[in-house]
Amino acid sequence: MALLEIQNLTKSFRGLTAVNNVSFEVNEGEIVSLIGPNGAGKTTIFNCINQFFPITSGDIRFMGQSIKGMKTWQICKLGIGRTFQVVKPLARMTVMDNVTASSFCRVKTIAEAQAQAEQVLAFCNLISEKDKLARSLPIGGRKRLEIARALATQPKLLLLDETAAGLNPSELDEAIELIRKIKQSGTAILVVEHIMKVIMSISDRIHAISFGQTIAEGTPEEVANNKAVIEAYLGEENA
Ligand SMILES: Nc1ncnc2c1ncn2[C@@H]1O[C@H](COP(=O)(O)OP(=O)(O)OP(=O)(O)O)[C@@H](O)[C@H]1O
Ligand SMILES: [Mg+2]
Repeated sequence: MALLEIQNLTKSFRGLTAVNNVSFEVNEGEIVSLIGPNGAGKTTIFNCINQFFPITSGDIRFMGQSIKGMKTWQICKLGIGRTFQVVKPLARMTVMDNVTASSFCRVKTIAEAQAQAEQVLAFCNLISEKDKLARSLPIGGRKRLEIARALATQPKLLLLDETAAGLNPSELDEAIELIRKIKQSGTAILVVEHIMKVIMSISDRIHAISFGQTIAEGTPEEVANNKAVIEAYLGEENA
C-alpha cells in the first residue's frame, strides 16, 4: 500500500475541468515530482489533497484511509503538511513565532512548541533569523520559512508547491540540499516545480500532467525524454 493514493481524481470549477481523472501514488520515503505547464492543474491537485477544495469525483487515500470530505486541519493532523505557491507567513509575527504556532499541531505546551521550533529552524538554516519579523525576510528566507512551518507539523508526507521559484543559483542549491535532508529524515515529498535542475536532481519518480490530464510518468530520464512532455512544454511545432 502506498502512503498517498490519488485515484481517478477529477476536479471541476463550474464549466472548467482543472483535473481530469488523474491517478498516481507516493510511497513512503519517496520524492515524487508533479510537473506540467502553467495552468495544468498542479496546485489544484494539492488543494484537493488537503481538501481546500471538495473533489468532484475519484478518491484520495492516505495510509490506506480515504480522506475525502475531511477538514483541512484533520488532514494536517493525519500527517500531510503543505507549503503554498504564494507564501503565506504570519507577516507581523517573528520567524520563531511562525514556526512555534505550527508546532502546536502536535505538542501541548509553549515550552515544547518553542523547543521544536528551534530544532526545525536550525534544520532549515533559519536559526539566525528567528527574531526577525517574517515580512522582513527576503524571498529565499520566506520560502524556507514556509517549509519550516510545514515541517513543524511533523508531516509523514510534505507537499511542496514551487518552493524553488524566484531563488538565485546559490539559494537553489540550498533548497535542493534541504529537500534531500527532509527525505533522509524519513518524510515522503510530493513536489510541484518548474525548475528542471531541481526536478532532475531530487525526484525518484515524475508524474506529468497537461490540461488536467496525465501525459507521462516514470523516472526523471524517462519523463524528460517523453515526446508528449516535450510537446506540452514547447508546443508541437517546436518540440
Ligand atoms: N478556485 C478556482 N476557481 C476557478 N478556477 C480555478 C480555481 N483554481 C484554479 N482554477 C483553474 O484551474 C486550472 C488549473 O490551475 P492550477 O492553479 O491548478 O494550475 P497549476 O498547474 O498550479 O499552474 P501554475 O504552474 O501556473 O501554478 C487553471 O485553468 C485555473 O485557472
Ligand atoms: Mg500552481
